Amino acid sequence: MKQICVIGVGYVGLVTAACFSDLGNRVIALDISEERIEGLKRNEMPIYEPGLEELVDRNVSAGRLSFTTSYPEAMEKTEFAFIAVGTPSGVDGEADLRHVAAVARTIAEYMRTPLIIINKSTVPVGTGDWLAEIVSSNQARPVPFSVVSCPEFLREGSAISDFMNPHRTVLGSLDPEAAEKVAQLHLPLRAPIMLTDLRTAEMIKYASNAFLATKISFINEIANICEELGADIKEVSVGMGYDKRIGPFFLDAGLGYGGSCFPKDVKALAYMAADKGRHPQLLNAVMDINNDRRPMVVSRLKEMIGELDGCTIGLLGLSFKPNTDDMRDSPSVDVAKSLQEQGAKVRAFDPVAMKVAAPLLPGVEMTPDPYSMAEGCDAVLVITDWNEFKHLDLERIRDLMKQPVLFDGRNIYEPEKLRSLGFNYRGFGRGYNDHMLDAEFEQDVVVAPA
Ligand code: UGA
Repeated sequence: MKQICVIGVGYVGLVTAACFSDLGNRVIALDISEERIEGLKRNEMPIYEPGLEELVDRNVSAGRLSFTTSYPEAMEKTEFAFIAVGTPSGVDGEADLRHVAAVARTIAEYMRTPLIIINKSTVPVGTGDWLAEIVSSNQARPVPFSVVSCPEFLREGSAISDFMNPHRTVLGSLDPEAAEKVAQLHLPLRAPIMLTDLRTAEMIKYASNAFLATKISFINEIANICEELGADIKEVSVGMGYDKRIGPFFLDAGLGYGGSCFPKDVKALAYMAADKGRHPQLLNAVMDINNDRRPMVVSRLKEMIGELDGCTIGLLGLSFKPNTDDMRDSPSVDVAKSLQEQGAKVRAFDPVAMKVAAPLLPGVEMTPDPYSMAEGCDAVLVITDWNEFKHLDLERIRDLMKQPVLFDGRNIYEPEKLRSLGFNYRGFGRGYNDHMLDAEFEQDVVVAPA
């Protein structure tokens, strides 16, 4: 049983603490927020993450997991200190490292026994070296320590299963012995462990997120072209995904990426490049394409129903993706604001995010279920691809609406089916039918004889 301390009880920290305790370690999770820690002691989760409450409860009851706001208590016997605090975007897109620096200084003040400091927060390349300098220049007494970078690859909504079944563990350090010890902690996860240097590990995290964001912007660009040429993006994605070199994941066209990671990390990587005099042209294009998605939904809607002034528009989903109540950089906020600015009344339903969303969406009426949301609407927009939206009683929705207009920002429905139910339905890049609605072919289509 290893003694671990995890600093920061956000998504990454809390999941890391709960999972390491479940693997049989003794874990103390620390946060400077009294409110969060007091809540956790009552088994109240600060975030919605499927399975987390049960996991925390089980490990607290087994005496392997505890919570504190006290550094002296957390540092007392710990061998491994994981840093998992936020790194928000600064003004120009650079990562703001204030929280990481504060944690490093406080660790330095309270550490009493040799310590391996493992950074999980997504930090600019080079931060591991900087962290080591902060710790050594702030130590109350000269206790040996090493810094290891262990980037996280957890997706919100499936963070526990991602932790327990990783594709890989990446460990970066200039101290191979420390990296070996951290590798031992990860052995029960039975995934490949890659040992590398600090800066390379930090870059692997940024490059991974930037690549996934690139796939999303790529498929969104292809969706735009599909719209013009009459091809169906859903089938294009499937057809591409069979190629093992491409793979089927992260090829869902729609409203684009949001959340606390991709927008911030792509921006930060572009900033790092530009800061060193490089022109990050691909990353810039990825961001441009993504930024266009939100206004595009609103302009599409106007093509379907005309001016929005006086209309009532319903939003299906508010969170940036399903299975989370996270509203950070969610497309719903920009879309709702733009609709309101154009004189529309906006109503919304989300299975879990309405409480978190309400303060961010002034004037948006939250409704108890999708059906009351649809009542009297001039149009409904799908914002989040929650599974339960795929199984709605669409005939009931149609009958409740003032006019059956549906724009599907996540392509969760089949155009043929929705149109056969009498909906004026559009999605992103949905093929031949959409194309025929938009444009006349300029020349006759000649079908070659069989
Ligand atoms: C992402 C990465 O997937 C994790 O590996 C990483 O650890 C995490 O960021 C992080 O850096 O902490 P997450 O932001 O939770 O995880 O969500 P994803 O499931 O990756 O989705 C990100 C966004 O892309 C969502 O807005 C989603 O709707 C959008 N998306 C995803 C698409 O628009 N199309 C797709 O095909 C896939």
